[in-house]
Amino acid sequence: MKTNWYKEAVVYQVYPFSFMDSDNDGMGDIPGIISKLDYIKDLGATAIWFSPLYVSPCRDYGYDVADYKAIDPKFGTMEDFDRLMEECRKRGLRVIMDMVLNHTSDQHPWFREALKDKNSPYRDYYIIRKGRWAGRKKNKLIPPTNWTSSFTGSAWQRIDGTDEFYLHLFAPEQPDLNWENPAVRDEIIDILKFWLDKGVSGFRFDVFNMYSKVYPLRDDRSPVRFQKGTPYYVDGPRMHEFLKEMNDRALSLYDSYTVGESYIPDPEHASRYISEESGELDTIFDFEHLNADNNLKFMPKPFDLRVFKKGLIEPQLRHHGRGWNTLVLENHDNPRSVSRFGINTKKYRYEAATFLALVTFMGWGTPFIYQGEEIGMTNSDFRSMSQLKDPVSHFVYDMMTGQLHIPGKAAFAMIRRGARDHARTPMQWDGSVNAGFNTGAEPWQCINSNYRDINAEKDLASEKSVYRFYQKLLEIKKTDKTAIYGETIEYDPDNRKIIMYSRTYEGRRLLIAGNFSGKKTECIIPDDFALTELNIKLTNYDRNRVERVMELEPYEAILFEEM
Ligand code: GLC
Repeated sequence: MKTNWYKEAVVYQVYPFSFMDSDNDGMGDIPGIISKLDYIKDLGATAIWFSPLYVSPCRDYGYDVADYKAIDPKFGTMEDFDRLMEECRKRGLRVIMDMVLNHTSDQHPWFREALKDKNSPYRDYYIIRKGRWAGRKKNKLIPPTNWTSSFTGSAWQRIDGTDEFYLHLFAPEQPDLNWENPAVRDEIIDILKFWLDKGVSGFRFDVFNMYSKVYPLRDDRSPVRFQKGTPYYVDGPRMHEFLKEMNDRALSLYDSYTVGESYIPDPEHASRYISEESGELDTIFDFEHLNADNNLKFMPKPFDLRVFKKGLIEPQLRHHGRGWNTLVLENHDNPRSVSRFGINTKKYRYEAATFLALVTFMGWGTPFIYQGEEIGMTNSDFRSMSQLKDPVSHFVYDMMTGQLHIPGKAAFAMIRRGARDHARTPMQWDGSVNAGFNTGAEPWQCINSNYRDINAEKDLASEKSVYRFYQKLLEIKKTDKTAIYGETIEYDPDNRKIIMYSRTYEGRRLLIAGNFSGKKTECIIPDDFALTELNIKLTNYDRNRVERVMELEPYEAILFEEM
């Protein structure tokens, strides 16, 4: 049943809140998405991953699900979704759903039942434990373990009026599911089948490698770490078993594709998750390269190309021939790529956007493109915390100004740099009111003030169109077997400005070279390539001559093909 469609796919990620608002209520919606499917198709995408569309109180903008089998009314109805499926099918676009199964919303009926009735079977759907009495007089109730949430603070929330707590590895409104309970896994299988029966082609599993915890639960006594408890809930002991079960009972019964969003997976586990032999997932996301200019997202550090290259290329070397890989520059959790990595965005936006796309997506793996990336959308010029809607920005700001005593201004500067909000401003379609996102209602998240300069309409009309560069690049990526299946070999990994690697498939080679800097930089074509046999297949400047030693322009990237 299983085909290789996902290996030759190009996936476009839609963040429904911010894509297109058809009814002018300030939030994106399904009819809006439908009106833009041709835009996605024309780019060269073959599949769309939708960030959550399910009923959700939106504490974490859809990543807190209150009903896994219903569409949230703010996005539309199930009929709208069925129409979306049909319109995608007509255009040859597959649909990938986001599955948030580590936790539910605290408004999910399971959780409400669990809190209401101590004897409810739903109690055991979650991880609820008695707190510990501490202090000299044993009169202070502290959480069952010292684990911290990914969103700062204790990972435990006390249940009002009791001495019990529930576990939440994210916001308090996102209680963790108890995957040890077979009834929970039955529900999950049922949910997966519900969507597969509707014709979706696969899933993106949100923070999947936290499903399995180490029992009995215990304190993390390892030396101080930003996040306490990870040894007991990342890549836990039953992870592989849980994934296999989903596969055996649901996924493998359809021609489905899966990508797991992992939280810093151990490389050994990562290999197993995606190995074709182990029958767990098809791919995972590896975000290592996105740490090349920051610590823990919000702490800036000078961009180091070696870290970027290692993160991007190592998984290609590690997994080739065993499983499959993904290639990512942006998503709804990261700032815009042209506004980071030390790039002078004002001067080199087009060059950097096309450079990043070429050197990233010509690697081995399925490209994932995040809405707006294909027109080089940038970070926003946020002026105050009140403009930031992501709760994480506020959690971290509060921690910085509170616990860490960082002055507000400095804290805001850090938040502004790493905020997820940058990715969540509405899509910039044109230069009209609200960037064409809607017809004038105030958008839920403010529009980037540069929308008159940077928008899809203007980009497409420009000689330097990022979108049209993406089109050319993706066409090669989808059709050239070497670009799809080739093995990667890296050259000069220690070079701090040049990124260079080749891809080889059945004796044919491609060479990718680029200058990841704002200064002209010398690039030397490796000796094992004969110059006479090299042809420039794609470039973001107008170079047409190949030389052994070339001075590359700022953010110049070249794809060579061996004739
Ligand atoms: C994932 C999502 C992110 C969400 C978190 C908790 O990292 O991408 O947006 O906040 O999981 O569900």
